[in-house]
Amino acid sequence: MLHVLELPPFVDELPLPELIPAKKHGKLRITMREVHAKVHRDVPPTRLWSYGSGALAPLIEARSHQTLRVEWVNQLPERHFLPVDHSLHGCGREVPEVRACVHLHGGRTPSESDGYPEDWYPSGKSRVCTYPLEQDATALWYHDHAMGLNRLNIYAGLFGMFLLRDEVEDRLNLPSGKYEVPLLLYDRSFTSSGDLLYPQSGDPEHPWVTEFYGDAILINGKIRPFQQVEPRLYRFRVLNASNSRFFQLSLTDHAPFHQIGTDQGLLAAPLKLTSLMIAPAERVDLLIDFSDAAGQQLHLIDGAFQMMEFRVGARTGKPEPQAPLPAMLRTIERIPESQATVTRTITLDELHDRMGAPMLMLLNHKHWHEPVTETPKLNSTEIWEFVNTTEDTHPMHLHLVRFQVLDRRAIDVFAYQNRKGLRFLGAARPAEANEGGWKDVVQCNPGETTRIIARFDGYPGRYLYHCHILEHEANDMMRPYEVMA
Ligand code: C2O
Ligand code: CU
Ligand code: CU
Repeated sequence: MLHVLELPPFVDELPLPELIPAKKHGKLRITMREVHAKVHRDVPPTRLWSYGSGALAPLIEARSHQTLRVEWVNQLPERHFLPVDHSLHGCGREVPEVRACVHLHGGRTPSESDGYPEDWYPSGKSRVCTYPLEQDATALWYHDHAMGLNRLNIYAGLFGMFLLRDEVEDRLNLPSGKYEVPLLLYDRSFTSSGDLLYPQSGDPEHPWVTEFYGDAILINGKIRPFQQVEPRLYRFRVLNASNSRFFQLSLTDHAPFHQIGTDQGLLAAPLKLTSLMIAPAERVDLLIDFSDAAGQQLHLIDGAFQMMEFRVGARTGKPEPQAPLPAMLRTIERIPESQATVTRTITLDELHDRMGAPMLMLLNHKHWHEPVTETPKLNSTEIWEFVNTTEDTHPMHLHLVRFQVLDRRAIDVFAYQNRKGLRFLGAARPAEANEGGWKDVVQCNPGETTRIIARFDGYPGRYLYHCHILEHEANDMMRPYEVMA
C-alpha cells in the first residue's frame, strides 16, 4: 500500500476539467474508457476509468429548458480491475462482468433516460439519453449507476460535473470564467505501484465491504493539489464524489465564506459560514473572498486535514472595485405541509451477522427486487419520513424530484424496533440554515427521523431512491418507486 501521508502535499496544480458547452438542440457523444493518469507528482500513473481522456471527466455546461441529448458510449474493457462481488443482486456470473449505465444526478429526467440500474449495457454498446432540463440552474453531476457495480465504476473514475445555467443566475453577476471553479472531492487508496486499491471483506464469495474510506484525498484528480488564485472573489462549485466519506469543510483559521447554493440551486440569500458538512453526492455552491489574503496561503480543510492550498497572488495596483454580494439570490417558496396528501414512513435499518458485523442494509426491510411499494401520483405532494435505526448517517437521495427538508427529531430506536411505534425523545429541529433551498440528498442522522416534502411533478414512470453511500446502495439500500400517471 502507498503511504499517502508521506507524499509531499501541494506539489500538483489543481487540474480543471475540459468544458463542453451544450449547444441548442445539441447532441453530445461521451465515451467511457480506460485511461492512465498521474494522481501525484511522485506516484506512477494510475489505471482509471473515465468519461474523458484523462482522470477528469468533461464539465458539461447546459441551459435550463434546452433539451440536451447525450450518447453515452461504453468502451470499457470487458473485465473489471476491481473486486466485483458476484453474490450481489444483479451482479451474478450470468451477466457481463463490466456493465455501465449513466445517471444524471439531480436531473429532472424522463424515466427511460434516467439511468435505471437495470438499464445497463456492456462494452461496445451505447445509449442515447434525452435531458429536457426543465429545472433551475444548479450543479448536477453524472455518474455510473449499473446495478451492484456502480460503487466500483464510480471508484474507478466514472463521474463528472454538469453545470446548468438560467436567467436568474445570469442576473446575479456571480464570479464566472476562470473565477468559477469546480471542485470534485473524493478519497481513494493506492498500492505502492500507484494502482487503485479497493478493500475486500476477506470472504472470497462475498468481497463486499460496508463502507470505503481511503487515506488519499483527491480534488479534480490530484492528491492534495494547490491552486494559484487572485486576491478577489471566487465561486467554487463543490461536489462530494466519495463512495462513503463525509467532509467537514472549513478554511484556515476558520475564515468565513458564503454558501449561495445547494444540491438543486441557489439559496434564497447568501449564508455566512465558517464550516459545513458535505455528504456523498451533495453539492454546495460557495463564494470565497481572497481579497484580504493577498500574498498569503489559505487551505481548504477537512476536519483538521489540509486538502488543498490556495496561493493568493500579490496585489498588483489598486484592487478592482468588486460588486457587493447580492442580498437576495432566488425566491424559494416553502411547500406547505398541508399540501401533502400522503406521508410515507421509511425505515433505514441494518442487519448484522452472528458476529455483529453489518451484512445488509435495507429500506423498510425490503430488498431492491421486491415489488414497488412507493407509488406517488404525478403532481401530488408527499412527505417522506426517514426513520434511521442504524448508527450511521445515511445520505438519502430521490431521483427525479427536488425536495425541501422539513425537520429532524430524536426517537427511541429500541421502542420503534420493538413495534411500539415512534416515540419522540425531544422536539423537532427545523432544517439547517444551509438546507433552506432545494435539495436532492438529505443527511439522515442516527436515531432520528428526517422529514422531507416533495412534489412529484415531472414524468410518470419508474424511478428509485437510495442511500448514496455507494456500498450501502449496492447491498441493498436502494428501492424502486413509481410515479403514477
Ligand atoms: Cu447520484 Cu441514484 O444517484
Ligand atoms: Cu440521482
Ligand atoms: Cu447508507
